[in-house]
Amino acid sequence: MKIGLIGTGLMGQPMTLRLKQSGFDVAAYNRTRSKLEPLEKEGVQIVDSVTNLIQQCDCVILMVTNAEAIANIILTDDVKQRLKECTILQMSTISPQQSRTIRDEVLAVGGEYVEAPVLGSIPQVKEGSLQIMVGSTPEQFRQLQPVLECLSSEPIHMGEVGTAAATKLAMNQLIGSLTTAFSLSLGLVQQEGIDVEKFMSILRQSALYAPTFDKKLQRMVNLNFENPNFPTQHLLKDMLLFAHTAEQRGMDASLVQSVAKVAQKAIDCGLATQDYSALYVAVNSVYSDPSARKNKAK
Ligand SMILES: NC(=O)c1ccc[n+]([C@@H]2O[C@H](COP(=O)([O-])OP(=O)(O)OC[C@H]3O[C@@H](n4cnc5c(N)ncnc54)[C@H](OP(=O)(O)O)[C@@H]3O)[C@@H](O)[C@H]2O)c1
Repeated sequence: MKIGLIGTGLMGQPMTLRLKQSGFDVAAYNRTRSKLEPLEKEGVQIVDSVTNLIQQCDCVILMVTNAEAIANIILTDDVKQRLKECTILQMSTISPQQSRTIRDEVLAVGGEYVEAPVLGSIPQVKEGSLQIMVGSTPEQFRQLQPVLECLSSEPIHMGEVGTAAATKLAMNQLIGSLTTAFSLSLGLVQQEGIDVEKFMSILRQSALYAPTFDKKLQRMVNLNFENPNFPTQHLLKDMLLFAHTAEQRGMDASLVQSVAKVAQKAIDCGLATQDYSALYVAVNSVYSDPSARKNKAK
């Protein structure tokens, strides 16, 4: 089976490399050519257009920003004509409704569509320990298992298309809400002059503790959001997708709307492409000014 990969950003690049190093026949395409250079050096076949990639591959993985990017890439008339003999393995984070709409368009031209969003980031891609949630028919899941198992020790078949996308948004809602909640508590503790380690030792012993708190603690304390695995702008996208999806189901999504506002504020502070733990800056306004952050970091 020849695998194509479209979107060689933060996640797509190591995914392509892992598939290649695991012995898959892999080709890649990216809108910005320069991001393909490291892959070319590793012997990945580089293809100059989406149509060429789709023509050559049995399965094409999409790892791009959002549903709009997916539509621009595969739902043009030119590309749609060539989807007949190809399975689209959509791994970006999009909403269940967006996923079902794209599936319908792909099916209408005789192609196959599987959604497989992932939990985990660059380190998990490199060690093949992503958590992959799959929305597909049982038969599609079985056929794609070798590819999925290269990236995850235990890909999980959730159900039909839409179920995996919804599960992924449910997980990311927790990322945004927990990070905002922790940023607030940590900020208050610091403002009151309390020893952060004492606070953490109580938190760690309590039922309220989540491992993500320790994962992000040093970044927040040091105001260091450089070299992100998952940037603030993607978290905002996911909070808005969750809120929209929940509201369509008649739920009260005001909590997530507030988290989205916090993420937008972090972006307004110039932290769009920095690690999402930059939400800390948005709730601790004392650091919204870059010079205040610089002084604190010294
Ligand atoms: N980073 C993580 O830790 C992580 C974890 C789980 C899930 N995800 C999800 O995975 C997806 C990719 O994330 P990432 O972190 O790899 O993002 P990224 O580094 O920002 O890369 C985005 C990719 O999408 C491409 N793209 C965007 N708009 C496009 C368009 N209109 N036409 C063609 N290509 C377009 C970009 O191409 P250019 O290079 O030309 O801009 C780039 O290859 C997102 O949905 C994200 O939410 C990310």
